[in-house]
Amino acid sequence: MNEFPTVRPRRLRRTAALRRMVTETRLDPAQFVLPVFVVPGRGIRNPIASMPGHYQLSADGIVELARQAADAGVGGLIFFGIPGEKDEIGSPGWDPAGPVPQAIAAVSDAAPDLVRWADVCLCEYTSHGHCGPLKGEVVDNDATLPLLAKVAAVYSDAGADIVAPSDMMDGRVAAIRAGLDETGHQDVALCSYAVKYSSAYYGPFRDAAESAPAFGDRRSYQMDPANAREARREAALDEGEGADMIMVKPAGPYQDIIRDLRGRTELPLAAYQVSGEFSMVEAAAAQGWIDRDRVMLESLTGIVRAGADIVLTYFAIDAALALAKGPR
Ligand code: PBG
Ligand code: ZN
Repeated sequence: MNEFPTVRPRRLRRTAALRRMVTETRLDPAQFVLPVFVVPGRGIRNPIASMPGHYQLSADGIVELARQAADAGVGGLIFFGIPGEKDEIGSPGWDPAGPVPQAIAAVSDAAPDLVRWADVCLCEYTSHGHCGPLKGEVVDNDATLPLLAKVAAVYSDAGADIVAPSDMMDGRVAAIRAGLDETGHQDVALCSYAVKYSSAYYGPFRDAAESAPAFGDRRSYQMDPANAREARREAALDEGEGADMIMVKPAGPYQDIIRDLRGRTELPLAAYQVSGEFSMVEAAAAQGWIDRDRVMLESLTGIVRAGADIVLTYFAIDAALALAKGPR
């Protein structure tokens, strides 16, 4: 009798060529979206201390970065704006001469093959850093909706392909969709940050976007990290209101949610590997504690394996370049 196993999974792991053939999850740079931070002016390049390799850039610098992303095969950019001035209601957000509309228009000319995503929220534009105007100390949901619709229309006028509301107001998908349709933007797609958790992983982003709330936190509008059933509810609501895609954010710590929603919607599913997920890898790699490029690709593989079609990631260009180098 044969004492040895007859089934040997190791047979298919024997050579790099075999492993490459039977791999179940392939990353493609076309599925990556690079977040960028736009400031007014020219020739500006402010390093973001908590996000090594990332900068606040004026539109001319964004164009240069967009060309690099396009050359690496990255699928698109998502724009965040840091305005010169902020006010109580976030009105710089719908200024057609603001940094985001300018950068979108410039990238449309310079790198037309990139998909242009515009994050739609007011926290970068309000003096208090909350995601809409306040009533007392609370964001006024219904007063925020028409303002978001204005922001989305301005970004669409500038040439956005996809608007992505990240504010977590109830009813915003329907309000933004109606606003876009009324302003002639029937063909602009909407990706809802349907499932956005109130996460400590956003810390470095708030430095980058200068959008930390001046008081309190976002727990009365963003989701409790403990809740999974509520994610289904949020996703179903946004799909019903007309979202063309659904996003889960953060990505890595919420792979169970990505997997669950993948089985419940036929829409493309995006996941946002957020600033803290990125910065933790960079920090450990800088100490020499992990192999940065391998952890980068492994973290993205996990997110895609869970069911994400699209990944918003600060690694977009580096991951695309690493993939082009071939099997690890
Ligand atoms: C704004 C917004 C945030 C992020 C994307 N859009 C921050 C927040 O909600 O505080 C976080 C992205 C990241 O951490 O990379 N609503
Ligand atoms: Zn916000």
